[in-house]
Amino acid sequence: MEGKLYKGQDYKTEFQPRDYLKTFCAFDSGTVAENEILKFNLNNLFETFSPGGIGGDILIDVGTGPTIYQLISACEAFREIIMSDYSELNLREVDKWLKKDPGAYDWSPAMQYVCGLEGDRSKWQEKEARLRRTVTRLLTCDVNQPCPLGSAQVPAADCVLSLLALECACQDVDAYRAAIRNLVGLLKPGGHLVTSVALRCREYMVGSRKFFGLWLEKETVEKAVQEAGCQVLKCQYSPIKYSEAYCVNEGQCFVVARKGPTA
Ligand SMILES: C[S@@+](CC[C@H](N)C(=O)[O-])C[C@H]1O[C@@H](n2cnc3c(N)ncnc32)[C@H](O)[C@@H]1O
Repeated sequence: MEGKLYKGQDYKTEFQPRDYLKTFCAFDSGTVAENEILKFNLNNLFETFSPGGIGGDILIDVGTGPTIYQLISACEAFREIIMSDYSELNLREVDKWLKKDPGAYDWSPAMQYVCGLEGDRSKWQEKEARLRRTVTRLLTCDVNQPCPLGSAQVPAADCVLSLLALECACQDVDAYRAAIRNLVGLLKPGGHLVTSVALRCREYMVGSRKFFGLWLEKETVEKAVQEAGCQVLKCQYSPIKYSEAYCVNEGQCFVVARKGPTA
């Protein structure tokens, strides 16, 4: 339908994984702005999960989408990774990559980029194998529910990761605050919340479909994380924004926070 703004349950049927990947994850062959944002996140993830950084037993990625780039550095730092998304279509796309399906998306440019940050680009195939071994489950989730993973039996996590998802999933700032609390609820005391946000977002395109984006300021993000009982350890801001044809937004922020003992 012309002009329709997709949101909420539309993610289950209208968010086409391949369209999203083509626009936002094409890496070196993609547009400059989209690549810069991907690299901003990969660089921050590398810093966060490198040796001496955050690690542990379990990492839960929430709002995974059809992507695996967000876990390339983390797979070295955790024994087990659980991926989760609202849409089965996205989980199926990820599953194709995990199972080395011939039609799976090619993540080798992102793999090589992160291996380059680590010092040896040639190790990218070992990295792919490591990530495939570390992901143990693909679950459906809803960040707007107090228990985002529903009835799935999942131990409290050492880290909850969520990139570019809550500003898509939440209809207003109150819902965003609640979603942050819901994610923090998945963490052990002392565990880490790692999240990246497209700031001042209004809408974005997935193929020919326009999706709603929630307008968030950096301060709103930090406050929501603090009110959920976390100490903000890092809030890295960059003024980079997406190409106007694909997303109306201004700036990005990458946040690392630690859950306090009483949250
Ligand atoms: C812009 S994509 C981000 C995907 C990926 N994390 C990335 O960094 O590219 C937004 C994701 O949020 C997911 N999503 C939408 N509503 C959700 C909800 N209520 N709970 C969890 N995830 C949701 C969508 O299915 C989609 O995969």
